[in-house]
Amino acid sequence: MSNCILITGGSGYIGSHTIIELFNKGFEVVSVDNQSNSSINAYESVKKITGKEVKNYTIDLCDLNATREVFKNHQFTGIIHFAAYKAVGESVEEPLKYYHNNIASLVNILALSKEFGVKNLIFSSSCSVYGNVEKLPVDENTPLPKAESPYAYTKQIGEVMIQDFCKVNQEFNAIALRYFNPVGAHPSGLNGESPINKPNNLVPIRTGVAIGKMAQLTVYGGDYPTRDGTCVRDYIHVSDIANAHVLAMGYLIHQKNSSNYDVFNLGTGNGVSVLEAIYAFEKVSGQKLNYKIGPRREGDVIAVYSDSAKVFKALNWQCEHDIESMMDTAWKWEKSMANS
Ligand SMILES: NC(=O)c1ccc[n+]([C@@H]2O[C@H](COP(=O)([O-])OP(=O)(O)OC[C@H]3O[C@@H](n4cnc5c(N)ncnc54)[C@H](O)[C@@H]3O)[C@@H](O)[C@H]2O)c1
Repeated sequence: MSNCILITGGSGYIGSHTIIELFNKGFEVVSVDNQSNSSINAYESVKKITGKEVKNYTIDLCDLNATREVFKNHQFTGIIHFAAYKAVGESVEEPLKYYHNNIASLVNILALSKEFGVKNLIFSSSCSVYGNVEKLPVDENTPLPKAESPYAYTKQIGEVMIQDFCKVNQEFNAIALRYFNPVGAHPSGLNGESPINKPNNLVPIRTGVAIGKMAQLTVYGGDYPTRDGTCVRDYIHVSDIANAHVLAMGYLIHQKNSSNYDVFNLGTGNGVSVLEAIYAFEKVSGQKLNYKIGPRREGDVIAVYSDSAKVFKALNWQCEHDIESMMDTAWKWEKSMANS
């Protein structure tokens, strides 16, 4: 059997870290990325870390015929589908852009999996499917409310599409992984988050402020009903997320799954407030961050963190990085970008 995995969005933040871990475990990898939010340089970083070259196709996955050519050229054992637009705020401003890209690319991936007999899929979902939850920590049985944004809705729809596809294609196996808040960078300092579009997530903004790329960090809301008034999130190191994908793919390949569709949360289980994360960053970097508490931001959930018991048990997965290691590696990456 081939051990070649198709990674969509492989030059992106989580995709490139997952390629590193797949190479480390002996898999072959082919990546498809249209470079809409990433640079081809990510593959250079992967090569520096692993010594291995990524075979990449610069193709838009919404283009069915171009994507079909990739499937003709390789025999895939599995697919990890990362490619998507991911900026929540932008999805509110430009909903059709998100519905088109995130849904059409997944339709094509499913159709081509059927056409070429690919049996295993891991799908990047998000804790944003839970919206504002009443009971914390949140587990996979929590009913999903109406999505807070078009982005979150594309993840809810994506999960339903895969589930429906699995119902009528019993030989097809899929797992949706709902990530909480991926942060940090490869411990080598050679790979990290480097989006083409403006960073939306807290940690790249924070390291950007510390290095002087941005003037000030705004913390949106200091009057929430949380222990220090700021939002609470479940930050998780990107390499821990990447490892979970390798384990999930192995779980499907070795048919350890009892049902052909399943969902797992990927979070550490620890809720950390925005201010606590800032203090952790200041501690490991020795930098004082220029931040201010601003007004609440529309669409932000107050607190969300994961009950990850299901994934810890099924995949025998554990998180190796704590919040300080997440901030330390992110800072190392920011400094290495500044010196390059
Ligand atoms: N980073 C997070 O905070 C987070 C949280 C939860 C879920 N996710 C999901 O995880 C996945 C990966 O996120 P990421 O942080 O690595 O994002 P990213 O933007 O760094 O990577 C996504 C990659 O997909 C590519 N891409 C997008 N549309 C494409 C298309 N039509 N054809 C080909 N390539 C395309 C982009 O160029 C980019 O390289 C996404 O599906 C995202 O929604 C991310």
